[in-house]
Amino acid sequence: MIETAKRLEQIPPYLFARIDEKKAEALAKGVDVINMGIGDPDMPTFPHIVKAMQEAVEDPSTHDYPPYTGTLEYRKAAVKWVAERFGVREFDPVTECISSIGSKESIHNVFFAYVNPGDYTLIPDPGYPVYNTGTIFTGGISHKMPLLAENNFLPDLSKIPAEIATKAKLMFINYPNNPTSAIATLEFFEEAVAFCKKYNILLCHDMAYSEISFDGYKSPSIFNAKGAEDIAIEFHSLSKSYNMTGWRAGWVLGNRDAIKALSQVKTNVDSGIFKAIQRAGLEAFKTPQKLLDERNKIYEVRRDAILNGLRDLGWTIEAPKSSMFVWAPIPQKWSSAAEFCEYLLEECGIVVSPGNAFGDSGEGYFRIAMTNDVPRVKEAFARMKAKGVSY
Ligand SMILES: Cc1ncc(COP(=O)(O)O)c(C=O)c1O
Repeated sequence: MIETAKRLEQIPPYLFARIDEKKAEALAKGVDVINMGIGDPDMPTFPHIVKAMQEAVEDPSTHDYPPYTGTLEYRKAAVKWVAERFGVREFDPVTECISSIGSKESIHNVFFAYVNPGDYTLIPDPGYPVYNTGTIFTGGISHKMPLLAENNFLPDLSKIPAEIATKAKLMFINYPNNPTSAIATLEFFEEAVAFCKKYNILLCHDMAYSEISFDGYKSPSIFNAKGAEDIAIEFHSLSKSYNMTGWRAGWVLGNRDAIKALSQVKTNVDSGIFKAIQRAGLEAFKTPQKLLDERNKIYEVRRDAILNGLRDLGWTIEAPKSSMFVWAPIPQKWSSAAEFCEYLLEECGIVVSPGNAFGDSGEGYFRIAMTNDVPRVKEAFARMKAKGVSY
């Protein structure tokens, strides 16, 4: 066997592996598994986008290599969308915006653009795992910023030691947040901008869940914070916003130097998003707000069903305003999230995600995705109740 690169050994164990194994066993036994684990919309892509794709794919001019960094039309539409949605200036589509094969691609690439072996990255814990693996792949050292309930799941920047901040190249923040479903205040964004300016750190804001929100809430962009464009880039995605996770389309915008550096990595790694998808993306950007509101209402009703289920079993829990998750503490009698999640799968046929799969500070929590309709949610909680699960 050929020995693989050392860096692969440093990738942390996949904590969903045990759950996946148990899920496969349950399915093989014929258990009607209710999957509340994965953050993948169960609703289809909006029909006007699918129709645009059908037409685009018929047009042979979409069949050749696309421009690496995105078609000009796609980037123009992306910066216009951001300007209208957040009330910020229209960024330059050529020098301040780049397309991305889903936001995951650029999140991974930005580490290659900035991190040298031994450099620090500042990443949230719990957090989207790619921030940590991007650091590992580039030989960096991640400094975890704990997201704690007592701080509304915002990192406490005053706790980052100055000697680490001085050696840090990137800071990742992500609001609306996965997995905690927390939202950020503009004051926090301003604090993060000031911190990153002080230490000369690229501030990376991941906004994958920007368009899923409830109770009239609208998430702010990092560019709503004064001076952010001097130091920040923002990662956006069509995936969750328009039920398009399989299409792989996103974009990054903001600081010109960072966009240039990302382009340099990207042109050497991939060849851009299929032009037909970018053309369909133009229709996604034009989606009437009414359709998004209707979709969000569906999530909101499911969210409430999950909260009612939890409260009925003794949890005291606040309603999340955004994202597609409920983040809840495990019952007091359980000592680990993994054990509790395994129990739910084995005894109730329910899959949820253990909080520590997103980082050590996620221990003691579990994440429920709003990807099942209300009858399934009710069925899940009825099963828990029947087994005596309580907080
Ligand atoms: C916080 C966060 N960022 C980014 C992504 C990547 O999404 P995509 O590559 O589909 O845009 C995800 C996906 O689950 C996510 O949860």
